[in-house]
Amino acid sequence: NKSRKAPSKIEYIYFRDHEIKTWYTAPYPEEFNKNKILYICEYCLKYMNSRYVIHRHQLKCSLRHPPGNEIYREGNISIWEVDGRENVIYCQNLCLLAKLFLNSKTLYYDVEPFIFYVLTEREDTGEESQFHFVGYFSKEKLTSTDYNLSCILTLPIYQRKGYGHFLVDFSYLLTRREYKWGTPEKPLSDLGLLSYRNFWKTKICEVLGELKEEINHAEKKGEILHCSIEDLSNLTGMIPTDVVFGLEQIGALHYYKGESKLQFAIKIDNWSLIDEVNNARKSKGYRALVPEKLVWKPMI
Ligand code: COA
Ligand code: NA
Repeated sequence: NKSRKAPSKIEYIYFRDHEIKTWYTAPYPEEFNKNKILYICEYCLKYMNSRYVIHRHQLKCSLRHPPGNEIYREGNISIWEVDGRENVIYCQNLCLLAKLFLNSKTLYYDVEPFIFYVLTEREDTGEESQFHFVGYFSKEKLTSTDYNLSCILTLPIYQRKGYGHFLVDFSYLLTRREYKWGTPEKPLSDLGLLSYRNFWKTKICEVLGELKEEINHAEKKGEILHCSIEDLSNLTGMIPTDVVFGLEQIGALHYYKGESKLQFAIKIDNWSLIDEVNNARKSKGYRALVPEKLVWKPMI
């Protein structure tokens, strides 16, 4: 009892009607870092010190969705594009929220160079629709790297429902619309790595599943359908390294010794493995991205 430490960590956030346990610390201003519970408005992401203050805030806050433009809507799912330059406070609050679930150092205050894509679930009760915050990813606006995603978060209450996969899928869709190939910024967190490894494998299975008929048709005629790693990069938006990872996971990449260097070929011995991955995904009933629903043009 003598060595009473100053409370230094927020243990829970009060968000929507949930108390969510936090995983790591975040550099909230000191006066907010003292309390066990931090109260966060699910629409503007403003953080507050007490239930009383958030209650007062909710009477005034007129937002029912994230700021920015709704660039995707399908069923009750929407994605909002929020420019870090135009909505500085919102984006800073978003980064602080994400830090509560990230071990690594991330940016919090220098949000201007980034665009944020926020995923919401729409609820149509009452007079106006409410767009509930589910997760987001950030992306650097101008970059000389292949990075197409900088940070990603699904709120813990929504995790393991396929939203992370959905957001990653969406990030690659933007990249394909830019006629580019992309990869997430490194290093990835443990959960980030798990999710991406699963995504790369699943995506390659999806694309190969779509090519299956063509491949089998060619085979019946004794021909080979030529499909390169680059072709798969163009179809997915994934950089060749990540395509290779996906192919290796399903044993579809075969290495052999060429004349001077190691060569490889894509060859599928085991369609049942690919079918299994595709069927398992379908049976989970996760929401699928519908590319035609994206209303968006690259900035430059
Ligand atoms: N344990 C094991 N595998 C996991 C996992 C976990 N806790 N979380 C995700 N995965 C793997 C699984 O293969 C999962 O597929 P499955 O549920 O069908 O088995 C796959 O990743 C995708 O899961 P999904 O439901 O689409 O992802 P999610 O909505 O849970 O979000 C993150 C994934 C990474 C965004 C989420 O865990 C998160 O926000 N983590 C904290 C922030 C972070 O680390 N971000 C990444 C670095 S910037
Ligand atoms: Na999942």
